[in-house]
Amino acid sequence: MSWVSDYEYTFLQRQTLRVLRICRHIPHHVAFVMDGNRRFAKSKDIDKIEGHSRGFEKLADCLNWCLEIGIREVTTFAFSIENFKRSTDEVEGLFNLAREKFSKLLEESDRLNEHGIRIRVIGSIELLPQDLQKLIATAMLRTERNDKLFLNIAFSYTSRDEITQAVETVLNHERHLEEIGDNEDRLLSQDINERLLEECLYTRHSSPPDLVFRTSGETRLSDFLMWQLSSSVLYFTNVLWPQITIWNFFASIFVYQRASCRLEAFRGKERIRSAKLAKISDFYSSRVQTFLQKLDIFRRKELIKLASN
Ligand code: FPP
Ligand code: MG
Repeated sequence: MSWVSDYEYTFLQRQTLRVLRICRHIPHHVAFVMDGNRRFAKSKDIDKIEGHSRGFEKLADCLNWCLEIGIREVTTFAFSIENFKRSTDEVEGLFNLAREKFSKLLEESDRLNEHGIRIRVIGSIELLPQDLQKLIATAMLRTERNDKLFLNIAFSYTSRDEITQAVETVLNHERHLEEIGDNEDRLLSQDINERLLEECLYTRHSSPPDLVFRTSGETRLSDFLMWQLSSSVLYFTNVLWPQITIWNFFASIFVYQRASCRLEAFRGKERIRSAKLAKISDFYSSRVQTFLQKLDIFRRKELIKLASN
């Protein structure tokens, strides 16, 4: 099963796609919380891991729908740090599924390049088995030039961990400069603010999700993108993730479109606030910009190291 399925659209689905695209805004970035795989497995009397595997197949359909409707960025919650607390069998099963899918991704990277899909895994990947880290890093580097659809996979991720690592990134940088006696590049206390921390998140190069789609009737965020979702439209459905259809997806787009006017007004105000903060805190100073450039270089080097391990 590929990362993008060969979904066959019916005439009515094509017409609906067209109407949704013509009528109003299409969200730029959609986040999926793929919940309900085990309940689905139980209802069908199949193994849990088969339920997760069906969940992956649904993700591949979703990617096809997103590409077709013109969504440019997708973030999906595939493995929470909390999921390490599940049984060893299930955790190993999920890792094996990820191994299989990332290996497949590397085999079919031409197809991903054709669709222009860039894969980014967000999370504490150092907590994962080493071979999986290598596969993930290779997949990220292999697709890094693509820019048509950004697919962010939250794997070994929680928001609290992401925010903690953002603070650690700043602290480690300062500690390093202190050790080497470089006082010129050191950040000033006014540089360390909301704007800077945001730039240290894994989602540094993404805009916040416009729409969050969560399945299985749970109406929680489960420590997913909590920083980034302050103004997103939330869409919850009772359907279990492996059972969603394109009509559930269309319904979420419709709900987003109804809410998008108010969302735009709110975001406009947020942009003004953020610009003011950047001005007050001298966000565009060479100190801060050098720090951010170094951060990108450091993160890429880490990936290269993992991929060559
Ligand atoms: C939540 O359902 C789903 C997960 C914890 C795993 C989702 C993972 C996949 C669909 C595979 C993705 C793999 C890659 C490589 C992207 P649940 O287990 O919480 O089910 P429940 O709510 O019914 O208990
Ligand atoms: Mg669940």
